[in-house]
Amino acid sequence: MRILTGIQSSGRPHLGNILGAIVPAIQLSEQTGNESFLFIADLHSLTTLRDGETRREYVRAIAATWLAFGYDTDKNTIWRQSRVAEHTELAWYLNCFTPMPMLQNATSFKDKSDKLGSSAVSAGLFTYPILQAADILLYDAHLVPVGKDQRQHIEMTRDIASSVNHQYGSEVFVLPEPRIDERIMTIPGIDGAKMSKSYGNYIDIFEAPNDLYKVIKKIKSDSTPLEEPKNPDMDITFQLYSLIASDEQVAQMRRNYEAGGYGYGHAKKELYELILTKYATERERFDFYMNNDAELEKVLIAGEEKARTVARQTIGRVRTVMGFN
Ligand code: TYM
Repeated sequence: MRILTGIQSSGRPHLGNILGAIVPAIQLSEQTGNESFLFIADLHSLTTLRDGETRREYVRAIAATWLAFGYDTDKNTIWRQSRVAEHTELAWYLNCFTPMPMLQNATSFKDKSDKLGSSAVSAGLFTYPILQAADILLYDAHLVPVGKDQRQHIEMTRDIASSVNHQYGSEVFVLPEPRIDERIMTIPGIDGAKMSKSYGNYIDIFEAPNDLYKVIKKIKSDSTPLEEPKNPDMDITFQLYSLIASDEQVAQMRRNYEAGGYGYGHAKKELYELILTKYATERERFDFYMNNDAELEKVLIAGEEKARTVARQTIGRVRTVMGFN
């Protein structure tokens, strides 16, 4: 089975990206018989981020995160989307098979354009899902592990692919399935809304300890006094802790909440300490790659060659049915 997923280089990866996409994708890639294609969606990031230097920094951070979490680049592939020109070529072909209303009704487009106001909405933001469809279809991906916010984009990919297959009466594209883990489909941010780069409510597990603690201390909580029992199921710190702690640790924290005499400050300190211990190796490896450009570049260039080989085969198939060669 071929697994594929991407992360936009519009920020450093946060806990939502890590639990929602990076860890599930790596777990799938480790199963026998699976092969995975994980890429950095740097072209997509141009819809919101214009500065080149910042983009380069975020691209490195995403690559360093995949590697820090143990992605095996001998068996699998990792690359920068912008280095494989077939992504944009296929996006054009797919543009011509995508009905306008489908794009107009996309939830993530509506959300972003409401926030930006119509004069700031670029055509790139509008056609964003088409480039995403090209990313997936170019590699004949069967399974796309993503967070819940991406479900609609995968459905659009399937619709566009079906329309091409139907037109040419053949299996030009494989129809991909989304893989969304129900437990971790939407990781909350420190204010309880979906954790997101654009909301500024994210936890960056690679930050220096002091900065990390400062963010964790800001997690929203109610005003129940320290002595009183608390409802863990209504609390964001507990929710975040449950996502990364062992069953015993979660059960213990639940008892503490329910017994009283245990404040939100205690829970936040435990969450902070757990992040530091649980991700100690990943934090070290992340720093290693962030300080070793040559090492990162070597891995990415090798990945780009592998990705290009597959992409060219698909583009060849598409050009043939569409009469471009
Ligand atoms: P992006 O960069 O916003 O997010 C990357 C991945 O992280 C998941 N995610 C979350 N999961 C759970 N809880 C959260 N709070 C949370 N925040 C983010 C996202 O669902 C996603 O899986 N359009 C994509 C990038 C992309 C792509 C693709 C993905 C481009 N081409 C092809 C898959 C296949 C995006 O912006 O993800």
